Amino acid sequence: MNELSVKHLLGIKYITEADIQLIFKTADHFKEVINRSIKKVPSLRDITISNLFFESSTRTRLSFELAEKRLSADVINFSASASSVNKGETLIDTVNNILSMKVDMVVMRHPNPGAGVFLSKHIKACIINAGDGTHEHPTQALLDCYSIRERLGDVAGKNVVIVGDILHSRVALSNIFALQKLGATVKVCGPKTLLPKYIGNLGVGIETNLRKALQWCDVANMLRVQNERMDISYFPSTREYTQQFGLNKAMLDSLDKEIVVMHPGPINRGVEITSDVADSKQAIILEQVQNGVAIRMAVLYLLASKIERDED
Ligand code: NCD
Repeated sequence: MNELSVKHLLGIKYITEADIQLIFKTADHFKEVINRSIKKVPSLRDITISNLFFESSTRTRLSFELAEKRLSADVINFSASASSVNKGETLIDTVNNILSMKVDMVVMRHPNPGAGVFLSKHIKACIINAGDGTHEHPTQALLDCYSIRERLGDVAGKNVVIVGDILHSRVALSNIFALQKLGATVKVCGPKTLLPKYIGNLGVGIETNLRKALQWCDVANMLRVQNERMDISYFPSTREYTQQFGLNKAMLDSLDKEIVVMHPGPINRGVEITSDVADSKQAIILEQVQNGVAIRMAVLYLLASKIERDED
């Protein structure tokens, strides 16, 4: 298979294992390209991409922009805080105005779950979801699984625990879907109040004891507590959270095997992970960031080939 089964990347839920393998194979090629002295290829030379960020972002936004530029696309950036969204414009109007400037692809981060799916039903451009509220963050899950494959050889057969604020995390949901499609076994670990009620229906194990979860796993993905999405207290104090669910060096070293430690960033050092763990050899946090560019180049390249363009 050399093309994706979808026209948009709205979530891992909507793509197949074969799609993921194709994205990985294509990313292998782009990873080699970005390590050359001339890092740019002309693949998307006549494609215009708009990055629409209705929510704050550092890594994801820079990573998409770099991926687009490495592929020679024309790029326009939009951030909600500096736009007419503040003046009451609807999402469809905002996007249609941008599309009237002949934009082919839209990379969108939005606080509302389902914003990408909604938009894909109303506009013609190809849409890539860069995070929709607490729902999905597909390119993050792809780069996470790609990084596991790179470090451990394969994702299939591995035990992966996702630790922390599962309830508010789009990274958790997309990772669960991607890891399962690739044949890994997934557990979640966190305070009961931060584990969503539906989690049992997703075929993941639940472990509320961090040490037991770490003993079981090959890979631990440590998530940030999403304070900005909380309007009530989900645990007594940050100190107590760290005591029960924070990963420190003593805990890591006391395990009878070497596990791989991941984090999607931004890290709250000293809360979900200590600095010495984040900066240790077992952590692949910077590899994840590096792989993000190759993965996003692969996604953009594969989706661009499916764009239907009007003849002028
Ligand atoms: C994550 C996000 O925005 O969902 N970050 C990212 O994209 N690298 C995770 C987070 O904000 O904690």
